[in-house]
Amino acid sequence: MSDEESALVRPATPAERADPRLMHRANKAAWDEAAERYEGWLADAIAEIRGGGSNLFDAEIELICDLHGRCRRAIHLQCAAGRDTLALWNLGADEVVGVDFSARMLALAARLTDATGAPARWVQSDVLDAPPDLDATADLVYTGRGSLIWIQDLDAWAAVIARLLARDGRFVLFEGHPAEWLFDADENGHWIATDYDYFGGPEASKGWAPEYIERLSLDDAEQSWKFARAWTLGEIISALLGAGLQLERVAEYPIDWWGGHADVRPEERGRVPLSFSIIGRRWP
Ligand SMILES: C[S@@+](CC[C@H](N)C(=O)[O-])C[C@H]1O[C@@H](n2cnc3c(N)ncnc32)[C@H](O)[C@@H]1O
Repeated sequence: MSDEESALVRPATPAERADPRLMHRANKAAWDEAAERYEGWLADAIAEIRGGGSNLFDAEIELICDLHGRCRRAIHLQCAAGRDTLALWNLGADEVVGVDFSARMLALAARLTDATGAPARWVQSDVLDAPPDLDATADLVYTGRGSLIWIQDLDAWAAVIARLLARDGRFVLFEGHPAEWLFDADENGHWIATDYDYFGGPEASKGWAPEYIERLSLDDAEQSWKFARAWTLGEIISALLGAGLQLERVAEYPIDWWGGHADVRPEERGRVPLSFSIIGRRWP
């Protein structure tokens, strides 16, 4: 990392760590900026959804299962521009609800709905404040793919999932594995350990990984600070259990879900957990 780049990454201060809502407000501003990148993906998303397709991995589709006739409402937390949300419609959900705090993301989601006629409702809200009229209405709550690292109060997050789930509703999480930050490729494509602190908590940064968001029209230094953190698998599972969910399955995969490890030699891929999933239910 150059000096210029490292000036744009720092541990969260004690005052910031103590205030999850402050970190969420910062993240909202940063994601409104990053939504610019999603604008470039809208045409592809429209074509994919109109064609009955899905951006989801096969492993996710297997977890979610065919939703035809058994999912009146699917709620997608941190839905971004709605592409994965409408994939749930294509998998058979009667109605989908996407919750995200970025107005700019949801404006794109609304354009996706207009273009596809999907029965979708978009709710602009911090996940932690998901509106009570959604309580106990979700036959499926789905989230993941780069969502959890932005949440700074995991117990409150898990409580929201528990209150949104209808009787017999299922929770499906497919997410980046927290261990993925501990490994990177050297210049020859071999795995090496990074100096990432698995237990370090929130980190403030500006700028985005080129494999994901690339460059925005705002220079990195001009962007809003944003706060991300790896939650350990133990913290995630404990938060869901603490909210009363019954966990049915936890699985780990070498799937490079965001293409951040594409420079690892093919023969060495598959050795490191890069994603994981959890299936749970609220009611026995
Ligand atoms: C990486 S995206 C989630 C993955 C998504 N499926 C996609 O297609 O990229 C992260 C999303 O989470 C949203 N987000 C982050 N923190 C949030 C919070 N506390 N409440 C609501 N939305 C949040 C951001 O606005 C962004 O749209």
